[in-house]
Amino acid sequence: MVSIERPILRTERPTVKPGLGKKRLMPETPFESGSIIDSKYEVLGKIGRGGMATVYKVKELKTGKFWALKSSDFEYPEDTNYDPIADETKAYKALPPNGCYWPKFYDRGKNYLVCQYFEGVTLGDKIKTSRKLSVADAIETALLIARALKEAKIPHKDLKPANVMLNSNQLIIIDWAITFRNMKEGTVAGTPTYMSPEQFSSLSVNYASDIYALGVIIYEMLIGSKPFHSNTISGLHSEKMSDESLKKMPPETFDNPSIRWSIQWLIDNMTITKQKDREEIFQTWDEVIEDLESISNNINNFQQKIESNIAIAYESAPTIVDDLSPTLVNN
Ligand SMILES: Nc1ncnc2c1ncn2[C@@H]1O[C@H](COP(=O)(O)OP(=O)(O)O)[C@@H](O)[C@H]1O
Ligand SMILES: [Mg+2]
Repeated sequence: MVSIERPILRTERPTVKPGLGKKRLMPETPFESGSIIDSKYEVLGKIGRGGMATVYKVKELKTGKFWALKSSDFEYPEDTNYDPIADETKAYKALPPNGCYWPKFYDRGKNYLVCQYFEGVTLGDKIKTSRKLSVADAIETALLIARALKEAKIPHKDLKPANVMLNSNQLIIIDWAITFRNMKEGTVAGTPTYMSPEQFSSLSVNYASDIYALGVIIYEMLIGSKPFHSNTISGLHSEKMSDESLKKMPPETFDNPSIRWSIQWLIDNMTITKQKDREEIFQTWDEVIEDLESISNNINNFQQKIESNIAIAYESAPTIVDDLSPTLVNN
């Protein structure tokens, strides 16, 4: 059994726990607005910062085009065999060309990569601002994420709301930095809340691990908060192993009990603790997509029924006959 004592974590905050070896923190703001990088890109501003990197909106001097430039916050000595920018570049090159569910890769510099700039918000921000999503919206979003992972053909390994971006007509998955992380024994990479139990012990992480993460995300979209509450890694791991936290979706979230049960059934299966069982239930992403499509159709049918009931109620409402005014008989 591999120890989980020395994890490499990607938390929501820019914290990197022990385990990375002799990394060196780069200056807090390596690129100021207006600075020019490699005589090619003008920095327009910072657009985000995750656990490992800072992302800037830049303008390419030659073409005037806007791009997202992701620069590593750390510099890693070559002997650590760890270079997140190189790993993420490798992932972008391995993703099927012309896919529409991730940013298009454009360029690579010494400590940065450049890809398509996406105008939108992260799913994490959307959940924060709307508190929770409607059931229909949550299922549609989950369906797009599942289609994205099917199309990608490689596991993402750090699927979470902060790594999903969306606008009114597109959803993309960003941050493929640990997809090709070279996992030494005892090394764990991921974001604990969304990590599957097998990911905690660095066993083989595959598409079924991403399915687990999507199960947690569906819960979070519907309820507006995370299903696990521990603030230690071992606490989170045992909550996941107890298999209970995700079974407590409040019934009032749903108008229709049968939709509630089919979503609960799906989440329970997507987050089943044993990877093998998950792989058996969902042999590919197709099974997840099929279930989400069927739930989505039920939601639409239910919605239509409600709407037609309102119409029937309206039609059968007592008719007020306007003949009560005194009739003047003119004789
Ligand atoms: N292609 C992009 N277009 C626009 N914004 C982006 C893009 N990629 C990342 N961002 C923004 O930068 C933030 C951090 O990016 P991410 O790749 O997740 O970095 P990290 O590896 O540090 O978590 C995202 O949450 C998002 O707000
Ligand atoms: Mg990220």
